[in-house]
Amino acid sequence: MSIVIVDKIAKSFRQADTEIAVIKDLSFTVEAGETLAIVGQSGSGKSTLLSLLAGLDQVDGGKVSIGGQELSSLNQASLSRFRGENIGIIFQQFHLMKGLTALENVMLPLDIAGTDNAEALAYDALKLVGLDHRSHHLPQQLSGGEMQRVAIARACVVRPRILLADEPSGNLDLATGNKVMEQLFEAVNERGMTMILVTHDPLLAKRCHRQLTLQTGRFQ
Ligand SMILES: Nc1ncnc2c1ncn2[C@@H]1O[C@H](COP(=O)(O)OP(=O)(O)O)[C@@H](O)[C@H]1O
Ligand SMILES: [Mg+2]
Repeated sequence: MSIVIVDKIAKSFRQADTEIAVIKDLSFTVEAGETLAIVGQSGSGKSTLLSLLAGLDQVDGGKVSIGGQELSSLNQASLSRFRGENIGIIFQQFHLMKGLTALENVMLPLDIAGTDNAEALAYDALKLVGLDHRSHHLPQQLSGGEMQRVAIARACVVRPRILLADEPSGNLDLATGNKVMEQLFEAVNERGMTMILVTHDPLLAKRCHRQLTLQTGRFQ
């Protein structure tokens, strides 16, 4: 069975008195172990689509299923728990917790899930991105590239069914971004993870098994 099943989803936003249809009747599936790139111009709805897949925003119509679980059938508390255990998310802006070390940031999803052994698992995830030697550093003691690698480790640590990444190199200079993306693909390959990667970089998109182009709410 497909890990991700997206069936005829739609999403609109109301601005002043006009309604903007951002996602229109969109359907696709993602198989286990597959990497899918979603490309498209700025404003084409890529981030909106990822939010819907993560259950951070709700569809107006249609269904999103992750690992056989339809997101809209979960209440807020169950959805948060489901997301924490099954969906790894990497944002452009890292979103690390300032007062926590790299290791503590990576342990956070495990602590929330009540996992035994959180420290050892978090350390393994930091090792996966080559940052085990920075485990006791605070975010402000890390470079941008290192912060994003911590964020990647945090997203991978629960071994999520799906990794969602929204322009993960968008906030880094070109050379650093390339290095961090190298690390991301290595981690994905090593753990055989399933990933949906939003990017405007055609070279990065080509590294995925498949790519889809979003244009005014539909795939081209
Ligand atoms: N919360 C929101 N309220 C109103 N409009 C929004 C909201 N989020 C996104 N949009 C609009 O939806 C469109 C797609 O945005 P987005 O998904 O961020 O595109 P992309 O990530 O491809 O650049 C844009 O026109 C944007 O202004
Ligand atoms: Mg975006």
